[in-house]
Amino acid sequence: MAAIMMDVKNLTTYYKTRMDEKVCSVDDVSFILEDGKSLGIAGESGCGKSTLAMSAMGYYFPPLHYESGSISIDGKEITNLSPDTIRKTVLGSDVAYIPQAAMNALNPTRKIIRFIEDVLEAHGSALSKNEVRNLSRERFGILNLPEKTLDQYAVELSGGMKQRTIIAISTILNPKVLIADEPSSALDVSSQKIVIRLLHDLMEKGFVRSMLFITHELPLLFNVTDDIMVMYAGEIVERGTAREMVFDPIMPYSKGLMNSIIVPEEGTRGHVLQAIPGAPPNLKQRPRGCRFAERCRYAEAACFSQTITEHPAGEGRYYRCRLDEARLRELYKEQEENARKFPLISNTYVDDDIGGIKIEGGQHE
Ligand SMILES: Nc1ncnc2c1ncn2[C@@H]1O[C@H](COP(=O)(O)OP(=O)(O)OP(=O)(O)O)[C@@H](O)[C@H]1O
Ligand code: SF4
Ligand SMILES: [Mg+2]
Repeated sequence: MAAIMMDVKNLTTYYKTRMDEKVCSVDDVSFILEDGKSLGIAGESGCGKSTLAMSAMGYYFPPLHYESGSISIDGKEITNLSPDTIRKTVLGSDVAYIPQAAMNALNPTRKIIRFIEDVLEAHGSALSKNEVRNLSRERFGILNLPEKTLDQYAVELSGGMKQRTIIAISTILNPKVLIADEPSSALDVSSQKIVIRLLHDLMEKGFVRSMLFITHELPLLFNVTDDIMVMYAGEIVERGTAREMVFDPIMPYSKGLMNSIIVPEEGTRGHVLQAIPGAPPNLKQRPRGCRFAERCRYAEAACFSQTITEHPAGEGRYYRCRLDEARLRELYKEQEENARKFPLISNTYVDDDIGGIKIEGGQHE
């Protein structure tokens, strides 16, 4: 096994609202990220993906609070470091973060080169102005950005250029872990592809050692990351390789999530698409039993009360469900057969080809 770049153990964090309520958005989460690997985090809106990304940096400020658990980066424990120490010695160099909607975060009154100077200065860099420019020119070149970008303002850049500029600024210190939270969601499809390819290039060239990539767009994760974790209501409910998670998910929520999207890959022809009914639970009250039970078509009475633990399912793979893998597979088989026989009852959508997606069946017919 490669060296572990990020090791998160039993991490629990919560928001404290103005009404003094606790919203537990990351609940007892554990995962590892190896050197040279990329890990995707998928899940519906509000499942805690961004909160996990922020929590994993060990940098908390109200309303987000740390409750328990540990985080280490390349063997360095960062859990109990003060925010000031984290800012000076961890952010940017150990962990770099591209926040959701980062494109709007660049101060419009400052030239791009100033942001890079700020990052280097905050980390005690002794580089001269010339050296900073040379370093920036080289890094911007790798990201297909012309040198003149350094002397421009954010408003002068297109969406794709702005996002690449943010990636260049965030990774200027060669972070061990890059956390990219929906880095391409605001871009058109061709700019998305460019951004993803460039993130890969940065990893291949060793400027970034490992990456956590968050997105709603599951087909995107399949092409971007080695592994995928599915998050639901503050918990990790399954982890596996990208291929396993897309083509062979085990846990009913992952199965539902993967069944509700189209993966334009060989083997998905005739793939049956189904929506997941309902919405995730309110995290102000930690639900008892399985958090997915209210929406799970296979739920039994015990699912609502029993504590659900993780089951191992092969190397590096695990899922969270009361039922064992063999039983779940039987249930999926029955369900798929029923969906094909009775598409109207199953509210089922069928794509008839890889290229053109035809939506049929269910109440839309
Ligand atoms: N400042 C806050 N105060 C209280 N609750 C919050 C706050 N920010 C987020 N939450 C709650 O924490 C939960 C997780 O939110 P988070 O933004 O991490 O989800 P997400 O999976 O990143 O969603 P999205 O896909 O929409 O970005 C949600 O239930 C959300 O309502
Ligand atoms: S534990 Fe029960 S409710 Fe939860 S996913 Fe498994 S079958 Fe569904
Ligand atoms: Mg988010």
